[in-house]
Amino acid sequence: MALLEVRDLSIQFGGLKALDGFTLSLDEGEMVGLIGPNGAGKTTVFNLITGVYRPSRGEIRFRGRSLVGLRPNQIVRLGIARTFQNIRLFKGLSVVDNVRAALFSQTGYGLLPALVGGGRTAGEEARVYWRAMEMLRLFELEEVAAEPAGSLPYGAQRRLEMARALASGPRLLLLDEPAAGMNPTEADRLMELIRWVHRHFGVAIVLIEHQMRVVMRLCPRIVVLDFGQVIAQGSPEAVRQDPRVLEAYLGKGVAVT
Ligand SMILES: Nc1ncnc2c1ncn2[C@@H]1O[C@H](COP(=O)(O)OP(=O)(O)O)[C@@H](O)[C@H]1O
Ligand SMILES: [Mg+2]
Repeated sequence: MALLEVRDLSIQFGGLKALDGFTLSLDEGEMVGLIGPNGAGKTTVFNLITGVYRPSRGEIRFRGRSLVGLRPNQIVRLGIARTFQNIRLFKGLSVVDNVRAALFSQTGYGLLPALVGGGRTAGEEARVYWRAMEMLRLFELEEVAAEPAGSLPYGAQRRLEMARALASGPRLLLLDEPAAGMNPTEADRLMELIRWVHRHFGVAIVLIEHQMRVVMRLCPRIVVLDFGQVIAQGSPEAVRQDPRVLEAYLGKGVAVT
């Protein structure tokens, strides 16, 4: 059985078909790139899978179970985690508390009770603290654990987002343009980190990227969206040479590099 099975997924906003008949099958531990010009519908795919939007048509199955109609926090508990195109951290909270909050809200506590600790045992507190610190160690954030998340440099905030997403032990990780706003050197370093995360955690990954160069080095399989529809998929080589892909990118003045 596939880990994730998406069939004929569609959603409209007013008259706009933001996503139209999107289909994707993903195996346990697989890594797939999702690319396409701005406004193609990439983030909408993530918002549908994570329960932020409800599809107007189509099916989403995760480990055989339908996700349509479930709330985002239920979907996280089933094993799907994500990061956002625009970083969403609790900027005033410490780095370690950002990860603790994610772990506690996953166990069913809200953010506030999560951090002030209402009704939890000392054992539970300690487990979550050490789990959070372990994630920070893996992402080389241990030394800034007590700093406010908002004070970290941009690249470190991206790492923290990923640490937080992985703390809950997901089987599927959705990364929405993690390299956005980075220079080529930073982007390359981040891609190495994603490669490592994929291997170390054995997690399946869908990686949204605007720049083809970045995904092509990382993902053996790439799906290309344009105007809400899949216009091509396959190996980086096949996708790079596909006339529809060239047209979609060049038509919008974006170099295919
Ligand atoms: N909540 C929404 N309401 C109205 N239009 C939306 C909404 N979310 C996305 N869209 C539209 O759907 C299209 C696809 O958006 P999006 O998935 O964010 O594109 P991408 O991530 O590929 O850049 C865009 O035209 C966008 O304006
Ligand atoms: Mg987007």
